[in-house]
Amino acid sequence: TSTGVDYQAENCTVFHGTVDADHSGFTGTGFVNGTNEVGAYVECAVTAAAAGSVPVTVRYANGTTTARPMSITVNGAAATSPTFAGTGNWDTWATTTFTANLNAGTNLIRLTSTTANGGPNLDRITVG
Ligand code: GCU
Repeated sequence: TSTGVDYQAENCTVFHGTVDADHSGFTGTGFVNGTNEVGAYVECAVTAAAAGSVPVTVRYANGTTTARPMSITVNGAAATSPTFAGTGNWDTWATTTFTANLNAGTNLIRLTSTTANGGPNLDRITVG
């Protein structure tokens, strides 16, 4: 088995949102609280040694009872659209994993909110 590489959301590009640390359980120095709107996004530049498919795990919290769906693209191509269901409260984090087809070198993974409620709070993505 191999261990993935963590990319902290707070170190990625944030379009409309803040880096917060007012809920517990995050890793790194905080988490991204995207603006509650359609189109807010987090984009992480991730590195792959070789082209191929790898698992990407997103760690998130949604303290509401309404799903917070996001569209995820890899190098601009649609990859998946997780629903990000409620996790019970904002201190409780869950993960969802999808498969990404990466190029050798740098790849852009973007998570964009698709409803007016915005996305969940995002802690990190783990690649590989
Ligand atoms: C609360 C919570 C935030 C969260 C926000 C939301 O304000 O403290 O961390 O991002 O709700 O609804 O998105």
